[in-house]
Amino acid sequence: MALRHFLTLQDLSKEELQQLLKRAIELKTAHRNGTADQPFPGKVLAMIFEKSSTRTRVSFEAGMAQLGGSALFLSPNDTQLGRGEPIEDSARVISGMVDIIMVRTYGHDKLQKFTEYSSVPVINALTDDYHPCQLLADMQTYEEHRGSIQGKRVVWVGDGNNMCQSYMNAADMLDFQLIIACPEGYEPSADLLEKFSSRVSVVRDPASAIVGADLVVTDTWASMGQEEEKQLREQAFAGFQVNEEVMSHAAEDALFMHCLPAYRGLEISDTIMESKWSVVWDEAENRLHAQKALVEFLLNQTAH
Ligand code: CP
Ligand code: NVA
Repeated sequence: MALRHFLTLQDLSKEELQQLLKRAIELKTAHRNGTADQPFPGKVLAMIFEKSSTRTRVSFEAGMAQLGGSALFLSPNDTQLGRGEPIEDSARVISGMVDIIMVRTYGHDKLQKFTEYSSVPVINALTDDYHPCQLLADMQTYEEHRGSIQGKRVVWVGDGNNMCQSYMNAADMLDFQLIIACPEGYEPSADLLEKFSSRVSVVRDPASAIVGADLVVTDTWASMGQEEEKQLREQAFAGFQVNEEVMSHAAEDALFMHCLPAYRGLEISDTIMESKWSVVWDEAENRLHAQKALVEFLLNQTAH
């Protein structure tokens, strides 16, 4: 039995990632045609959420039902984990009863500790450092609309946050150029910048970075857990809004993505999500299919 986890994109090989994206597209087609199988009857996914969620919860829960299994929603308000039961005890107990677990939490180290003690596959459903499930959906969406992302110019506008750092992993694995336009003091980790220096660069001016971009991506300026910094961040990120004017300098067939939830009037203009560049609704829907492909991959790997 090869126990596999998905804490960052880099837990997959490049070939596995490509295959998984292909499979996500297949599963989406099968779902739409009414020809999808239910390969995992009786399999249970535990979903541990220490932060809020709409897309992640709905997509994992619906996805498990579509695969023939079921999902359990566990919030810190109702579990002993929320009352201080140690992570290592919780991981051993929960993984003894279910087949696969997803965790949304704060520190990436907490997720790593949980994973160390889990006897079943663990999926990162967002930490302060990474959001790899979203990248599966984003990369599936790009592929569906424009084909291979290899060699493309991808511009990240805004905070060097968990999403940005997952884009850095993707740039390395799928071989695209990532330009990060962020204010000083809001860069992603220096270690990652050094590690991926051949693919990733940091600039300060979003308008010039976007010139010729194939894909423009942004995210909230204040992530979950940074609520108290919201005002300060709004000042720091003034001038980093993605709007029609800046998008007009991107490549002719550029796409715009945002993992959502979005804050209109802050990181995006009021109407950009409805613009010709935007694929945000497909991107959100693809969470469902990309994660079914991920669950299938992890359960099948673990069964061999
Ligand atoms: N994009 C995303 O992960 O959304 P939720 O926080 O709603 O799950
Ligand atoms: N960067 C955001 C992503 C939300 C899906 C956050 O961590 O809150």
